[in-house]
Parts: sequence; structure tokens; C-alpha cells
Amino acid sequence: MHHSQNRATLGGKLSAVLVAAGSSVGLGNIWRFPYVAGDNGGGAFLVIYILCVLLLGLPVMVAEFTIGRASQRNAVGAYRALNPRWSFLGYNGVLAAFLILGFYFVVSGWTAEYMIHSVTGSLAHFTTPEEYSSIFENFISNPWRPVLYTGLFVLVTHFVIALGVQKGIERSAKLLMPLLFAILITLAIHAMTMPGSIEGLRFFFKPDFSKVTASTILVALGQAFFSLSIGIGTMVTYASYFKPDTNLRHTALNVTILDTLVAVLAGVVIFPAVFSAGIEPSSGPSLVFITLPGIFNTMPLSMVWSSVFFLLLVVAALTSTISLHEVITAYLHEEWRLSRRAAAWTTTAATMVLGTVASLSLGVLGGWKICGLSIFDSLDYITANILLPLGGFFTCIFVGWRLDQQILKAQITNNGALKFRIYRLYIFLLRYVCPIILLLIFLDNLGIF
Ligand code: PFF
Repeated sequence: MHHSQNRATLGGKLSAVLVAAGSSVGLGNIWRFPYVAGDNGGGAFLVIYILCVLLLGLPVMVAEFTIGRASQRNAVGAYRALNPRWSFLGYNGVLAAFLILGFYFVVSGWTAEYMIHSVTGSLAHFTTPEEYSSIFENFISNPWRPVLYTGLFVLVTHFVIALGVQKGIERSAKLLMPLLFAILITLAIHAMTMPGSIEGLRFFFKPDFSKVTASTILVALGQAFFSLSIGIGTMVTYASYFKPDTNLRHTALNVTILDTLVAVLAGVVIFPAVFSAGIEPSSGPSLVFITLPGIFNTMPLSMVWSSVFFLLLVVAALTSTISLHEVITAYLHEEWRLSRRAAAWTTTAATMVLGTVASLSLGVLGGWKICGLSIFDSLDYITANILLPLGGFFTCIFVGWRLDQQILKAQITNNGALKFRIYRLYIFLLRYVCPIILLLIFLDNLGIF
């Protein structure tokens, strides 16, 4: 494998977990999860979500780690090296990473703007939810402000990527992930002491299965894949930098637990606040931008809470945009033989263009629709509900059925150094359970049943 000699590797065990968790924990946990759960019945959604994570997400993550570390290449190169007929899966990943960045950078830009307005105090001048709603709508449909903040976020991401795998990606994860946990735990403790918090927690934790439909299951699945950053080649790319003695199963388990913990904690922060203000929990993507600033405003030290909350979103977003950018940069660098610098700039320029279009699609380009959805919404829908689950499905088929099982076993057990007692169960999940469930959920949503 000609890339392996001069390829970067990550430091110790902890680095592998922090870097992969940095990718997983993001806006998906703090911005997307609470509103999707709110739209789909709260506690019942949480139960289905956790089942999707354990039964489908975890095995796929281990499979992706296997592909990455076995090949030590970018997402496309990895499949090409193992079985050239499957390189389409790598392309699916690079495409999905590009499309996700298109809307993810935009939302990241909003979080940066809200953080700055919280710090300067200008977000504290309003009182009613209508006022907050109108400043949000005005902001996102403004032709240049969100584009400017998107650009700012793209450049910060670029800067980290340009520093390289160890100095950029690894160092930023080691700094930002502990910061994220400290902020989140502080906010969760604070939220639980608020009046009316019990009602929010009850909504979030008490399952009401009458709200569950077939589409709830697809949404939970899409959310699980999106949140764990799987089905897309990100974990393949990151695992290509893992050391030979990194324990793939433990890393995947730790990342999955951390990711789910952050989603649950985000719910614990947000739902009590929403209920104590008497607001509908299903107010959609704008939940954290409209509902929360209004709530912070009614609290003592509102500027501090709101600044800290939006800083949390910025930090979470950044470690994820870094991972998405790296998928494309590593691909261009290794497959197209561009220098890493040129590869990073190409990615930055291309995502900036798509991000600008996605941002403008919420305002001046509002007339541009794909199947009735704005460009922004269709990027989210196509990736989370189609490309990621499809990527996951084919990853299961490839690793379960096509990949040389010696390679799989060698990767999972680190060439026999580790025991894996449930190996057979794992293969069974990968070969039958995951692909069948993924297929059924798909067919169901196409209205086949
Ligand atoms: N997992 C990230 C989140 O939850 O915000 C989003 C994401 C990052 C999805 C990287 C896919 C990916 F490859």
C-alpha cells in the first residue's frame, strides 16, 4: 500500500476516540436531534433512535473503521484498494460529504452569528417569541450576512485542515471536545433547575408510541446515521489515520456512547427550556435559534447563558465540518495527486459556492425548488434520508459478504492480539440484520408495503 509509509497517524487511544467523536458530535446532536425528536413524539422517538444506533449504527461504524485502517487511504482509494468494483461507495461518500457541507456550513455560520450577537448583547434587546422569530427570519433570508458568516466558518475549517492531520485535526479535537463537554454539562445542570423543567423532561423521556409512523423510523435511522457520521466515508478516512494497535470495537463503542450522550444531554438542556416558556416542542429547524434566545432572555445572566450555548454549537459544528472537509481533501490529495494545500483550497472553494447557493435559497433564491423543497432543505433530505442509509446498506453488504473475511478478522482483533467473543454475532448483524432492516425501512417509505 504505497501511501502508508509517509501517511500521518493519530497519537494514542484517546486521540482516535476524540477525533472520531469530534466528527460525530455536532449540529446533528444539538440542533437537529432535539427538533426531530420534538416533531416525532419525543420519548418514543428516543427509544427508536437508540435502537437504530445500537443495532445498525454501531456495526456499520466498525465496518467503516475496518475499511479505513485496512487500506490506509481516503474513502475512494480505500474501496478501490480492497475491491475496485466497490469504489462507487467511496464516491457516494465524497459526494455526500460535499452536499452535507453545503447546508452544514450555512447553519454553522448562523451559530457563529448568534454567538457574536450574544456576546455583544444585541440578542438581548428583544422579548417576545415573535420578535425572535422575525430577527431569525430576517437574518437567514438576508442576501449577504449569513453568506459572510458561512465564509468565516469555511475559512476557519480550512485553516485547521491546512495544518494537517496531527497539528490541525488531532490538536483541535483534543482542545474542543473537553470544552464541549464542560459547557454541555453546565447547561444541563442549569436547565434542570428551571421552573417547569419536569414537564420538558417528561416529554423527552416518556415514550408515546401513538405518534410513531413508518416515516418516524426512517427519520430516526437517518438521524442516527447523520449523527454518527456513518454511511459517508468520514469514518473510513479517519480510521485510515488510526494506529495498528487502536482497538476498533472499543473506539466505535466509545464514540457511539459519547454521541448519544450528547444528543440526550442536548434534549435535557432544550426541552425543559422550551416547556418552561410554553412553546411547542416541534417548532422545527429554528428551535434553537428562535426559542432559546427568548428563553435565555428571561433568565438572570442571560447574556452569559446565551453566549455559552452558542459557543457550544460553534465548537460542535467546527469539529464536524473539519471531518467532512477532510473526506474531500484527502480524496483530492491522494486520488488526483494534488498537493494537500491545493486539495484543501479546492474543497474550500467548491463548498463555499454550494454553501452560498444553499444560504441564498432561504431568501433571494427561494424560488429554486427541488421536489418542492428549497435547495437548503433538499441537501439535508437527500443526504440524511437517502445517501447515508444507502451508503450504510452497501457498506454492510461489502464488508459482510465481499471483503476477505481474514482482513475483517485481522482488523477487528488487531491480528489476533484482541479477543472478540461475539464475532459471529457481529457477522450475523452485518450480513443479515442490518441490510434487511435498512432495505425494509427504505421500501416501506417508498410505499411498497
Ligand atoms: N455527525 C455530524 C453531526 O451530528 O452534526 C454531522 C456529520 C459529520 C455527518 C460528518 C456526516 C459526516 F460525515
